[in-house]
Amino acid sequence: MSKSKLTTEEQMEDYLTDLEAIQTTFQKRAFKRFKPQSEYPELFITIPDELDTIELAPLYDVHIGSNELDEPLLDRHLDWIDRTPNVFSWLGGDVFENKTPKEGYMGHDPLSPEEQLFRATQKLARVQHKLFFSIPGNHEDRTGKQAGMSSAKRLADNLRVPYFSDYAMVSIKWRGNIFRLLAHHGNGGGATPGSQRNAARKELTWYQPDMLWTGHLHQELVDPVKVFSTDQKTGRVYERDILVIISPSYLKYFGGYAAAKRLGPGLRGLAVAILNDDGRIDANVHARGKRL
Ligand SMILES: [Fe+2]
Repeated sequence: MSKSKLTTEEQMEDYLTDLEAIQTTFQKRAFKRFKPQSEYPELFITIPDELDTIELAPLYDVHIGSNELDEPLLDRHLDWIDRTPNVFSWLGGDVFENKTPKEGYMGHDPLSPEEQLFRATQKLARVQHKLFFSIPGNHEDRTGKQAGMSSAKRLADNLRVPYFSDYAMVSIKWRGNIFRLLAHHGNGGGATPGSQRNAARKELTWYQPDMLWTGHLHQELVDPVKVFSTDQKTGRVYERDILVIISPSYLKYFGGYAAAKRLGPGLRGLAVAILNDDGRIDANVHARGKRL
């Protein structure tokens, strides 16, 4: 049935039946999660020590509903996240395109915002058991600006994943380590490599996590930052390098917004951080292509 209009009681009932059917496919979660009552956007994740390494592969700027979405690549990555026991993820915003009437959505467009939301729910259901949390992007916020309704929260509710409205401050416990993650969708421009690097580091003046992770720019960046910390229990100084990461998007370049605005093309897919039990964090990015 069409998800473009949920105006009648019958349509709403059909919708809820479809949603429930999706929710029955959710698999068992392989980590523990605790979200305390707090004025801070805190989340505690505990991962089983049996896993030898942990790979964090968040989904940023997927833009389901966009004509430029590289769907085969997305499907391959969702399959990998679903099937690989040590891979975990979160939703970093701009999960769906959410082209609303203000951005020129017409009633005859192939997918209404409601259908894009439903399609995103369907698509991500297979990795629901791997998702730590969900945060909004500027595309989901379009609905909030125009109607005061959070479509990102609706997606998180559909997927039964904890939702934060801006930042997520996450402690990941595993093998005696606590890896601290600060995640946000990202905002603003940043057309040059230097401005992108500065934008990605923005929060380091007020919080120093182990990983500072954003998206939004549709450009990939892995930027290690050297810091020294003091162990408050012993007073001893120790080294704790920070990894500042920008995840890329799943969008093809030509024919889309970025090419129209002369924003440079970015890599496509995932940025991955690999957590090791000695506290080291490796980053895995791919420069693809033939070398002819
Ligand atoms: Fe985006």
